[in-house]
Amino acid sequence: MSNPSFLAELSDQFWKTFEAQPMNVFDIFDENTRPKAPPIPGATPAHRAAGKKLAMIHGMHLSALDETQAMMERVVAGEHQVGDLAEQINSMKLMGNYRQFGNLCGRECQFLDFHHTSEDNEIFPVIYANGGEGLKRVIARLVKEHSVVHELLERLATNVSDLLAQPGPGTFARTQETFTLLSRVVRSHFDYEQTELEEALGFYAVPF
Ligand SMILES: [Fe+2]
Ligand SMILES: [Fe+2]
Repeated sequence: MSNPSFLAELSDQFWKTFEAQPMNVFDIFDENTRPKAPPIPGATPAHRAAGKKLAMIHGMHLSALDETQAMMERVVAGEHQVGDLAEQINSMKLMGNYRQFGNLCGRECQFLDFHHTSEDNEIFPVIYANGGEGLKRVIARLVKEHSVVHELLERLATNVSDLLAQPGPGTFARTQETFTLLSRVVRSHFDYEQTELEEALGFYAVPF
């Protein structure tokens, strides 16, 4: 993810303070540190309805995550069924499932990267430019969360290329661990983002 140019140009003191605080993956789950968007005077139910489109887009990503999760569970069940390491390496079906899980994770990486890049370029700058200080804080927080997700996507892409090059219990376990964490992070990020931006997306007629 390239850092959005609209943020690079900022000189506001609050952004500098915010930027100075490093965020790790577990900070994402701390609801108390997530700024809330103040209500926008004049926003109508029609604005909020328009903003719900983001939750719909997130829904498509969640279905893809669910599908990948189901494949991951089939692999775990297959490993138990097949038994020891030598048997696992000789099982054609399990090898196929490792690859399929790897391919689904690889698709996930591209799909989510595309989604966040379009938010960084098309949604965040419009809301940042038009919204008040409360909304700017929400956008700044979301940009930070994107950088955490991006790091996980890069880690997952590396895990996937190892898994596809050498399918087996070790490469699978590493991919499984990253995917499980990414999935938790993304679900939490989506909830926060779609709730806090719903009104602003409609009110500022953000094209997305
Ligand atoms: Fe996002
Ligand atoms: Fe999003």
